[in-house]
Amino acid sequence: MSLIITPEDPKPVEYIPNYVWRLNYDFEYEHGGSLQYDVGSLLDTVRTNSELESNNAFSTASASLESYAPHNWECLQKFFYIIHKQLIPIWDHWGYFNCHITPRESWINIHKRGGITTEHLHSPCPMVLSCYLKAPRGSGNFLIRDPLEYHRFGSPQVPEQNLWKEIPVQTNDILVFPGWLKHATQPNNTDEDRVVLSINYEGH
Ligand SMILES: [Fe+2]
Repeated sequence: MSLIITPEDPKPVEYIPNYVWRLNYDFEYEHGGSLQYDVGSLLDTVRTNSELESNNAFSTASASLESYAPHNWECLQKFFYIIHKQLIPIWDHWGYFNCHITPRESWINIHKRGGITTEHLHSPCPMVLSCYLKAPRGSGNFLIRDPLEYHRFGSPQVPEQNLWKEIPVQTNDILVFPGWLKHATQPNNTDEDRVVLSINYEGH
């Protein structure tokens, strides 16, 4: 009787970096503190909406470089200090030069019922953070367009299928990804706001 050796289960070989990371930080947005106040004040100040926002969505992206943009808010300085230590390993994992990284631009997106951010990218920004200050259940997840879309042409599948990957998000999640990664949001299907802080980092 011959001995049948059961092969081990297939194992993936990691050869490209992981380009999407999830961090967590308790922003305490709904605790009635200064963060929610500052978000409201910024929305009242900025009059120009982004063309990427659709249906019932609003953005302060047009003021992302201003001195009153969120990355300059006193109430967020503790967050930036803490999160910085977690961004360094991701920066290194992506093979970027060893340099000093700082937030350069930031803005707030608010999506009411039906609101979406349409497909876009942040190039040439090397690192983007999407921070979910408030993401009620049903308010829409994050969508990533397959960056290998064109490379998959010719393989036994339809590249147009499975083109978008849904990434579930909830309040206090932070998604970290490179600026070249195309993304969008699902619509907010609730009567509560979805509130997102977006930050573009730079290295120098
Ligand atoms: Fe974005």
